Amino acid sequence: MKKKILVIPGDGIGLEVTRCGKAVLEQVASDNGYEFLFDEALMGHSAIEATGDPLPGETLQKAKASDAILFGAVGHIKYDSDPTLKVRPENGLLGIRKGLGLYANLRPIVLFDELLQASSIKPEVLKGTDILFFRELTGDAYFGEKVRAADYSSDLMIYHRYEVERIAVKAFEAARTRRKKLCSVDKANVLESSRLWREVVQEVAKRYPDVETTHMYADTTSMQLIKNPRQFDVILTTNIFGDLLTDEASQIAGSMGMLASASIGDGAGFYEPVHGSAYDIAGQNKANPLASILSAALMLEISFGLKEEANRITEAVRQVLKNGYRTGDIADTATDKSKILGTKEMGEKVLEFVRQSAVSKKGKAEVLPA
Ligand code: IPM
Ligand code: MG
Repeated sequence: MKKKILVIPGDGIGLEVTRCGKAVLEQVASDNGYEFLFDEALMGHSAIEATGDPLPGETLQKAKASDAILFGAVGHIKYDSDPTLKVRPENGLLGIRKGLGLYANLRPIVLFDELLQASSIKPEVLKGTDILFFRELTGDAYFGEKVRAADYSSDLMIYHRYEVERIAVKAFEAARTRRKKLCSVDKANVLESSRLWREVVQEVAKRYPDVETTHMYADTTSMQLIKNPRQFDVILTTNIFGDLLTDEASQIAGSMGMLASASIGDGAGFYEPVHGSAYDIAGQNKANPLASILSAALMLEISFGLKEEANRITEAVRQVLKNGYRTGDIADTATDKSKILGTKEMGEKVLEFVRQSAVSKKGKAEVLPA
């Protein structure tokens, strides 16, 4: 197997975590004799500093020519405190989502049992939660017409029928391979764009009679996610609601640092942690690399069809956690038994377990370490 992978570290902790994600991909390639050809490109604040553009033409070109992209994060504190700045790091990410036609963002909320204590939600409420978000990614107020005058402004919240239909089909297909439940989240009691959303999802649902379809308002969903997260299987939602609800849902998985995501569309897949650039801890070897590593696993599964290799990575992460290794964000403060590692060391621990599982697969060792 030969694949071209573009790495876009971006800003802040993106640089540190993508190194770990890439290392896992290299390990899988060398274990299996695959040829993964890596290239790198700029985006976000680092790209603005170097070229004046958050998404240089060369980055988009390289992305279009690759089989998959591993992305870190974009953002810089300088822009957070100054809303008047016109050129912004986030525009790089939005531009590449649009440029690659990445209309569906899959965000799996999977809770490792080892992290039950890391969440601020009660373990008995959380245990067994397994949600797959389908967040629409190239429509809504993110991409509708923007107007700014001296004393007013507006963002057009717009959805076309085809935009809702194509992601709904993807979400229903996924539901079929899971527990066959799909909850579509909107705000159809208030928003016209949500009424279209609901209408189209109802139409698509007729093609999937084996999937139990429900509709929930976004405000209710934000409450139900904390009250009873186990009720959800696939959640299908709009760009804005998906942005908000997946940050909330990250607390089910213990930390933003655990949440991986896959953005897919018509071409190459784009794999990114849900967390941002976290400048407060950037460059300090403190960031949790597991979201990037789990994003690399999603790449292997979704873009390259390597489900077994993806499972090996997830299992390696589980083993690392089982053995008590933690980054600061997921430390078990109640028992204080965690072995706290830096970003680099955490990445290396995962690699160790990935290597061991490759050896045991080849029959050179009998069992995985406990
Ligand atoms: C996300 C992020 C982005 C978004 C930002 C960085 C533009 O919050 O991927 O969830 O709003 O989509
Ligand atoms: Mg977000």
